[in-house]
Formats: sequence, structure tokens, C-alpha cells
Amino acid sequence: MNLPKGGIAFFDSGVGGLTVLSSCQKYFSGGVFYYYGDNARAPYGNRPDSEILAYLREAFDLFAHLKVKAAVIACNTATAVAAEKLRTEYPFPIVGAEPSVFPAAKGGGEVFILSTKATYQSERYKSLCARVRARYPEVRLRSYACEKLAGEIEKTLPDLDFPLSEFLPVGNPSAVVLGCTHYIFLKKKIEEFYGCPCYDGNDGIAKRLVSVVENRDGRPTQPPAPTYPPKKRFFRATRTKKFRLKCIFVDNARFFRLFFLGSGKKKNVKIYEQMFISIKK
Ligand code: DGL
Repeated sequence: MNLPKGGIAFFDSGVGGLTVLSSCQKYFSGGVFYYYGDNARAPYGNRPDSEILAYLREAFDLFAHLKVKAAVIACNTATAVAAEKLRTEYPFPIVGAEPSVFPAAKGGGEVFILSTKATYQSERYKSLCARVRARYPEVRLRSYACEKLAGEIEKTLPDLDFPLSEFLPVGNPSAVVLGCTHYIFLKKKIEEFYGCPCYDGNDGIAKRLVSVVENRDGRPTQPPAPTYPPKKRFFRATRTKKFRLKCIFVDNARFFRLFFLGSGKKKNVKIYEQMFISIKK
């Protein structure tokens, strides 16, 4: 089986970007999607920038070979470290992920921003916070590098049964920014933990992706002929030797073909199946 070309690619160090993929698919009426999760080398957050960039280039070379319509870096860490460089190296549009600090800061008060160490240390993140402070001088931004949280999420999926207090900063914020796509799996739990709303950037990424794809094609992604009756949903996953896992997902006559790529191999195929099914429920 050959991989179809010209789809939309998603990249994450591991499973976090599945939450982004799921948000984006709501805006599309079908099509070919690739999900590259680098599970074998996740988490990225404590790695040096040069290593992260090298790993991304491996994935992006494959995306170029697949002639992708657009690529989403569904990872705040990878965006902070590599998005600008990759944009100069590859011919397709690249949509990045950035902590949703602006919307969280609107309400004022004390805002906790949780991210990986690499995001926390990046120039891109520092400049984002500076712009937010300039617009909302009253807000108190508190940045935290949660060095172990993404790794724990990768390790404990799909149950995520671990004490949050060991991984989160103590305090009483008025809003929390989930500055790592992995944390979105814990959104409800973190909201309960702090008793305040959590912000993520997934819907913003989805809107940006739609506009990028529309601008490129001059039209929104077209649904294929609806060969399935409306309201019908099913999910089928098949493992293939070459591509690890191929998923067909049909939802109300929207027909998605999703191909899991990456260096995760066997270990995470099972997790992908479980997570994707639970996200889609
Ligand atoms: N999901 C990622 C992010 O948004 C990466 C986490 C990691 O690999 O450390 O930052």
C-alpha cells in the first residue's frame, strides 16, 4: 500500500498533538491526515534545541516527500524551538502552537502558564509574555516549567492515574494556560485542581489551519462523495507493516483517512488506537 499524497500533516513529540488533530478535524469535511508522533523520543521538553530541530527535520523531510498541503506543529515545544527555521526550509505552510496567554490574561488576576522547560526557556515564549504584559499591564503572569509532566502523561496513558500535586505548582490562580498539548488530556482535572478555567490553543490552531488551507487551495477542503449514510460513525484501525497504523474514521458522512507515522513503533500504536477512539467519543 502506498501512502496517499497531499494530505495535512500533524507533528508532536508524542500523543499531545492528538488533541490538536481532533480539534482541527471538526473544521474539515474529510480528507487525508497524517499524524507523526515521535513517541520513541518523547518527551522533548528537556532536550537541547539542536536535538529537537534535528528530530523535526526527520519528520518534515517525510512531509515534504508526501507533498503535504500544510503541516501543523501540534507541539508548543517544537514550535518554540523550530517553527521559524522550518518555515524557511520547507515549501508548504506550517501552523504552529503557542500558549494561549492572551485570552487567559484578558480576565486579569494571576495567570499560571504551564509548559515544558524548552518552551519556558525559549525566546519566542519570552517575547509572547512581554507582548501580553504590554497589553494587560495589570495581569500577573507566573511561568512554570513542568519538567516531568509530559513524560508522565506519555507513560500513564490512557488512564492518567497519578497525583497531580506532584507535578503542578502550588497556588491559587485565576486562570491557567496549558502551554503543552500533552496537558490538554488533563484539562478537566487541572481545572478541578485549581478551581479555575484552563486555556488551550487548539481551536485557534484549527482556525488558522483552515485559513491556510483555504488560501492555498482557493477553496475549503472538499468532502469526498458521501458514500456513507449520515449519522453513521465508525472507526477502523488496521496495522500495516510499513506505516504502523492506518485509521479510517467516518463521522456523519465525513470520511477521514488517518495515517500514523513516526518513530514510536509498536509501543504506541495501541495507545494511538485507544486515545483516538476516546477523543472521538
Ligand atoms: N506536546 C508537547 C508540547 O506541546 C511536547 C511535550 C514534550 O515532549 O516534552 O510542548
